[in-house]
Amino acid sequence: MKISKKATTIAVINQKGGTGKTTTCENLGVGLAMEGKKVLLVDADPQGSLTVSMGWQDPDALPTTLSTLMQKAMNDQCIPPGEGILHHAEGVDLIPANIELAGLEVALVNTMSREKVMKQVLESAKREYDYILIDCTPSLGMLTVNALAAADSALIPVQAQYLSAKGLEQLLQTVQKVRRQINPKLKIEGILLTMTDSRTIYGQQISNLIRQAYGKHLKVFDQTIPRSVRAAETSTTGKSIFQYDPKGKVAEAYHSIAKGVLADAEKRLKRQFEQLR
Ligand SMILES: Nc1ncnc2c1ncn2[C@@H]1O[C@H](COP(=O)(O)OP(=O)(O)OP(=O)(O)O)[C@@H](O)[C@H]1O
Ligand SMILES: [Mg+2]
Repeated sequence: MKISKKATTIAVINQKGGTGKTTTCENLGVGLAMEGKKVLLVDADPQGSLTVSMGWQDPDALPTTLSTLMQKAMNDQCIPPGEGILHHAEGVDLIPANIELAGLEVALVNTMSREKVMKQVLESAKREYDYILIDCTPSLGMLTVNALAAADSALIPVQAQYLSAKGLEQLLQTVQKVRRQINPKLKIEGILLTMTDSRTIYGQQISNLIRQAYGKHLKVFDQTIPRSVRAAETSTTGKSIFQYDPKGKVAEAYHSIAKGVLADAEKRLKRQFEQLR
């Protein structure tokens, strides 16, 4: 029996702005590539932050983006394998985005199977990669629902602040709804606490609060992503934290998260295998 490769697709979501989604997507992606995995990053945010952060400073000048590909899928046109995919020096690939994606999100409303257009676009890539990471826009609109419909799991970066903890409820309800109506296999990869500051009592209290409230039902990664000026600087360099500040604590943290994600995948596979026996 030939087992064909099928990428694990992870949507990085939080409807709150600035929680570290883009930073996590880029650095988890490069972290997984450093562990020998073939990784495709997908910029699903009309702001194009991931595209810029990966070094394509002028996303509007790119001829083919996620929006182009989704439009083709909506028109029932075929998408040649590899179309629109950019290659980054650190060994990951990228489907970029620009502001056109905002217009496309509006057009989705009148489309057949509107929740599954992104899934359709990523179908052929699923055979080519080990991991596909989707960087979502800070909303729970149609683009995020499309990402969740295409995903095996959702990874939720949460900034250790009270307000974002409240927004989590709404986010989990959306995941639940997508699971019931569109994608029954959708899992939660975990909650990742970002920009933590272990020196302040307040930051620690929030972290504890999130662990107490959600830790029983969901995975909250033990490893958190510390706040660091070097990490904030990387978004303008076109490099990941592994190139920009390889010895820093943020590089170490993302490396550990990448290894954690791989270990969880292995555990899942083992469980499935045991159930088959
Ligand atoms: N560990 C960190 N330490 C310090 N700054 C960070 C860290 N992670 C991310 N940042 C900075 O915080 C800001 C928000 O991060 P990022 O863009 O990853 O969040 P986001 O959730 O993708 O935002 P948006 O919702 O706008 O898409 C950026 O300026 C980024 O450089
Ligand atoms: Mg972002």
